[in-house]
Amino acid sequence: MRIHVVDHPLVAHKLTTLRDERTDSPTFRRLADELVTLLAYEATRDVRTEQVDISTPVAGTTGVRLSHPRPLVVPILRAGLGMLEGLVRLLPTAEVGFLGMIRDEETLEAKTYATRMPEDLSGRQVYVLDPMLATGGTLIAAIDLLIERGADDVTAVVLLASPEGVEAMELALAGKPVTVVTAAVDDHLNEQGYIVPGLGDAGDRLYG
Ligand code: PRP
Repeated sequence: MRIHVVDHPLVAHKLTTLRDERTDSPTFRRLADELVTLLAYEATRDVRTEQVDISTPVAGTTGVRLSHPRPLVVPILRAGLGMLEGLVRLLPTAEVGFLGMIRDEETLEAKTYATRMPEDLSGRQVYVLDPMLATGGTLIAAIDLLIERGADDVTAVVLLASPEGVEAMELALAGKPVTVVTAAVDDHLNEQGYIVPGLGDAGDRLYG
């Protein structure tokens, strides 16, 4: 597993406003969307392409286009839905699947309540979207499912991660074809399973 923390002043600026408790829900949604597009630029650096011959109005030349099969984008409901538009803006031909997962706030264990995506993901590149990587339970379960179905390259795009969550993912997904792209790795995870300083509950701030 690889982790990529995107170091860019616009990413830091938007993330700071997302963290601010005074940021209201409409502004939070808009900024999350903009931040995802910036992260998506980095997350798609290894998107698969193939060579293609075209003609400009002046001459023939060689370029690239996205390879088949198309990439699959999987937002984890509910909060990951707030990241979908920001990613498909850069990958408009991607197929979209959905995973509904909820973390039990007592045990912090992730449970899957909805799955809607192709059964066979053999040879597919998958982008999984979830704003928070806290304990890592949700993303580990989601990525295990994607790899079980045959995905051979998974990139998780998250707004914020905890060091504990990153470590848990590194342990659980060692040697697997997984990349995590995030705007920041914060200080720590508190006893309630919140990232500190974090931004609170992303689902509530987007949709609560
Ligand atoms: C939050 C968040 C992640 C998960 C992270 O979702 O959006 O999906 O918790 O926690 P973990 O890394 O410890 O598993 P939540 O369960 O609150 O659901 P929601 O998106 O429907 O609000």
